[in-house]
Amino acid sequence: MSGIELEGWDHVELWVGNARQAAHFFAAGLGFEVVAYGGPETGMPDRASYVLEQGDIRLVVSGALQPSSPIATHHRAHGDGVRSLALEVTDAASAYEMALSRGAVGIAGPRTDEDASGKLVTATIAAYGDTEHTFVERTAYSGTFAPGFESNRLPPRPAGAPVGLRGFDHVVANVGLGALGCWVEFYEQVMGFDRLVHFGDDQISTEYSALMSTVVWDGSRVVLPINEPAQGLRRSQIQEFLDFYGCPGVQHLALATDDIVATVDALRGRGMRFLDVPADYYDDARGRLGDLDLPWDELRRLGILVDRDEDGHLLQIFTENIGDRPTLFLEIIQREGARGFGAGNFKSLFEAIEAEQARRGNL
Ligand code: FE2
Repeated sequence: MSGIELEGWDHVELWVGNARQAAHFFAAGLGFEVVAYGGPETGMPDRASYVLEQGDIRLVVSGALQPSSPIATHHRAHGDGVRSLALEVTDAASAYEMALSRGAVGIAGPRTDEDASGKLVTATIAAYGDTEHTFVERTAYSGTFAPGFESNRLPPRPAGAPVGLRGFDHVVANVGLGALGCWVEFYEQVMGFDRLVHFGDDQISTEYSALMSTVVWDGSRVVLPINEPAQGLRRSQIQEFLDFYGCPGVQHLALATDDIVATVDALRGRGMRFLDVPADYYDDARGRLGDLDLPWDELRRLGILVDRDEDGHLLQIFTENIGDRPTLFLEIIQREGARGFGAGNFKSLFEAIEAEQARRGNL
């Protein structure tokens, strides 16, 4: 089915408890640059919003200034979390109409905002849980981000080595038991996405927990794995997410780099915390992948995981949860041909996650 024509990612917006501090976290800890700010000073009385960029990645963090704000309600329910996966289009109004005609739920119809830099058109549909997709048409807009945002008096850039994050690789959703099929169908029927790959619970399981996952994509840059918990001996990490987030939502953002050793070195220098790698991981990995020419000592020192598929190999690492709740984390990934998601690492990754879950008393 032909889909809504997407130009790629526009931005990911997080609704958080304290946007000023979240912006500092992404700037100091992850090397993002604050490029725009919106708030009461710029005509947005109910919120503070910071726009951060690195490579082709654009993040927006927004916090409420009043208890009646929808951001406050969202934060109370979910903690810090992803509100909007915003996708760039050439015609937001027709993307919205097409989505609704195919069964999407509309959140906000097409709206044009203007300033001296031109016109920006946006329209928003519902996705899983309280998550939304906003279509952003910026062909007639030359400003930094959007009307209502300014680039004066921004916070200074924190010190730290350059990180080198390049773009969004994939964004992962967790949905409830039995809901995977209907969300895959949503992306196929409403957005015109294709299925890239499916992992059954026989492929993704540990002694304690299991999950199923289907990856949908627009055929180009927007890659969305969707996870559903499967029955295991204990509470799966997906179920822990659902219990603490309160509904389906975004579990992790995977950010691409071309030099993961330099990136993770810089991130660790900036104080980012990553999941521990099980002690026997590297002996096992060298057994599986020893023919690859890789800097094994560096990978072991930094805790970077390796996997391969029929197209090549990939290197990846996962942060600890970035907020207080065990919900949202980040992945850093370098692809060398591989198009997969590190299935060979799932077992050791899940064991690391379960060790953290057990420390929280949630296993
Ligand atoms: Fe991932």
